[in-house]
Amino acid sequence: MIYTLTLNPAIDASAHISVPFARGGLNRINRIRRDPGGKGINVSKTLRNLGEPTCACFLSGGSAGRVLYDMLVEADIQCVCAEIGTGNTRTNLKITDSEGYTTEINEEGPAFDFQASAAIRKRLLEMATPQDVVVISGKIPPSAPTDIYRTIIREISHRGIRVILDASGEALENGLRSIPFAVKPNAAEVGISEDVESAVKVCSRILTVGTSIAMVSLGEKGAVYCDRSGVRMFAEGMKVDVKCTTGCGDAMTAGLAYGIANNLSPEDTVKIACACGTAAALTDGTQAPSAGSIAGFEDKIRIIRI
Ligand SMILES: Nc1ncnc2c1ncn2[C@@H]1O[C@H](COP(=O)(O)OP(=O)(O)OP(=O)(O)O)[C@@H](O)[C@H]1O
Ligand SMILES: [Mg+2]
Repeated sequence: MIYTLTLNPAIDASAHISVPFARGGLNRINRIRRDPGGKGINVSKTLRNLGEPTCACFLSGGSAGRVLYDMLVEADIQCVCAEIGTGNTRTNLKITDSEGYTTEINEEGPAFDFQASAAIRKRLLEMATPQDVVVISGKIPPSAPTDIYRTIIREISHRGIRVILDASGEALENGLRSIPFAVKPNAAEVGISEDVESAVKVCSRILTVGTSIAMVSLGEKGAVYCDRSGVRMFAEGMKVDVKCTTGCGDAMTAGLAYGIANNLSPEDTVKIACACGTAAALTDGTQAPSAGSIAGFEDKIRIIRI
């Protein structure tokens, strides 16, 4: 089982308008779709499509949180939530206009609730076994302690459960100090430009501290994978007709988790992770790629040993 933990989930609303976006004016939506969102939940969406058992654990806020729960149940994604005392789960609105411009209006999300956070972590620890993998990803909620991931990773790893961290900024830095089993930041999140040499250096530095697998994604250029056994690979990015790159990293993290949970070889893990990321570039918004689309890319990923 691959558990995902999302402390600040969202409902992603993707709207289309048939005229140019009117700043300061009335914009009439001609179609809109709502998807469960938030990085951990996106990871569970891709895993669900891969047929991999997954459970999305999240903090739920008010009526919007209940809607999110229902959306996940409808999408056939197993989930567990803890209700926060006050506030609503956020909605992130993306408006794409007739000229192809997308305007994003994102809520920050409700204030952090310590009790609910403790409750969801307790549930997670009751359910997960050392064979399982836990993916922790996304921004931490406003007002949460910046070392919250560090605390959570420590308590999960203590039980012998492997943690994959996909985060940025202070949450990533702090999380790394608790030595997650694997990490999947993008280039900007580790402060480098999208080049292989810098990515290898960063991966080596991360592995020195004790993490077993470091994968740094480089957008359309591909990704670098290094592990503690000395395997180093560069997977070239593929030229595809990109629809939307939001969520590519989440899909890649899902593929990485899939490889780890199923004890795939490093090469097969990289292949499926990159296939998931590539396939996600072909979907709208944060919709997860289909198993068929992922399988179609898997054997086409070119891997260079470095
Ligand atoms: N424009 C693109 N063309 C082809 N493949 C892409 C493109 N963008 C991303 N990918 C694939 O997806 C993987 C992850 O992308 P990226 O590095 O953008 O993740 P990220 O910045 O973490 O994304 P996210 O918005 O989900 O956090 C890449 O390594 C690559 O395999
Ligand atoms: Mg990312």
